[in-house]
Amino acid sequence: MKKEIEDARIREQEEAELKELLNFCTIPTIEDFSQFIEEHRRTWSMQKLGEASYSEVYAALHARTKQSTVLKIMPFGRKDMEQASIQDISNELKISKTMMRFDGFVDVVGAYIVKGEYPEHLLTLWDQYADLKESENERPDFYDEEQKFCIVMLQNGGTDLEHFKLKSWREAATVFWRVAKSIAKAEQAVEFEHRDLHWGNIVLDRKKSEVSDMIEKLSLQDTKEVYAVNIQVTIIDYTLSRARCGDEGVVFSSMDDPALYNGRGDYQFDIYRFVRNSNQRRRSGKPTQRFDWSLYVPRTNTLWLHYLAERLIREKNLTEPRVVGSGSNTRAASRRGGKAAAESSQAEIDAYRSLDLVFKLIDPRKRRFGAGKKAGGGVVAEIGTAGDLVAWGREEGIVYE
Ligand SMILES: Nc1ncnc2c1ncn2[C@@H]1O[C@H](COP(=O)(O)OP(=O)(O)O)[C@@H](O)[C@H]1O
Ligand SMILES: [Mg+2]
Repeated sequence: MKKEIEDARIREQEEAELKELLNFCTIPTIEDFSQFIEEHRRTWSMQKLGEASYSEVYAALHARTKQSTVLKIMPFGRKDMEQASIQDISNELKISKTMMRFDGFVDVVGAYIVKGEYPEHLLTLWDQYADLKESENERPDFYDEEQKFCIVMLQNGGTDLEHFKLKSWREAATVFWRVAKSIAKAEQAVEFEHRDLHWGNIVLDRKKSEVSDMIEKLSLQDTKEVYAVNIQVTIIDYTLSRARCGDEGVVFSSMDDPALYNGRGDYQFDIYRFVRNSNQRRRSGKPTQRFDWSLYVPRTNTLWLHYLAERLIREKNLTEPRVVGSGSNTRAASRRGGKAAAESSQAEIDAYRSLDLVFKLIDPRKRRFGAGKKAGGGVVAEIGTAGDLVAWGREEGIVYE
């Protein structure tokens, strides 16, 4: 009897949570998954784009307007299948909607809750993807008719940083500072921490402009450097993020899963441990609770920015520009080369130096994290936030806009 009462209580709570979730959605009712996809297919052509442990991602192109979107499809509500909880999904939606107001964060086009077996059409797309790239996920044909999914429709931000080909250090430095500036603004506005900013969660798109088209046509390779880097940088995936979301208050997700901290061999995995340690230092006094993930610890943003600088410097196949002696000597050396070539290589040296300075300044593996010497002498105040880093970079004149 006791168990029945308990079960009824859980069901009631789930229903209340589901109702709240539906309030954040474009249509406040649960739709049939297959019907939803059939309807969607009439105007959008779809293709599987990628996957993660808890989601499948499809790209959808509008036949008439050519609007390019991404559907992130997340099963939820079944603890026994290690799915996200209703609360997890609500949190991600709340943060997504808060963040889309800021430059550099992905736009949410719509959000829907659907129920039912995995649609035939998506299975076909899933198989096509598996044939081409092999999938690490199980073929999603095992869901029953009661399975619920959240479909978040996002603006397509392009290719993730891991798979995007960067052509120069100037592009790399521009990507870095655009991310840093977006995070800095979000810190200030909503006390934002991303908490999982690995290179799969930054997407990039080369924006074609008339100027870049013209240059490409004329193939004026050397003058290309003069123009602003034309890459749109978008931050995605707030599964672990924390932000102040208006009336909803502080929204965050627990990072207590020990599996998060076991990874080895990739700098990304060290960052989770550094993130946890910085929270530990601010932990609440309660004896049963070691970590308080609701706390605002913007240092986590600087940790992920250090990781980003590391990826850009070491893992994007850009070769280190050869710096001959000090800055002025370099310029003298490059003057001896052809003029156009000299200017372009100086631009590359400067961009590399910008990343390298950041990399050294905010290295969490060093004891005196974030406190370094200024280029012109003097000591920099501690860098505790992305905002501090951008302010410091501006003072040094190394921020790429
Ligand atoms: N708005 C988007 N634009 C372009 N690609 C995206 C977008 N959203 C997701 N993706 C792609 O799908 C992958 C998984 O999406 P993500 O939101 O990171 O899910 P997860 O929480 O499962 O990691 C990303 O790494 C990226 O490659
Ligand atoms: Mg992700």
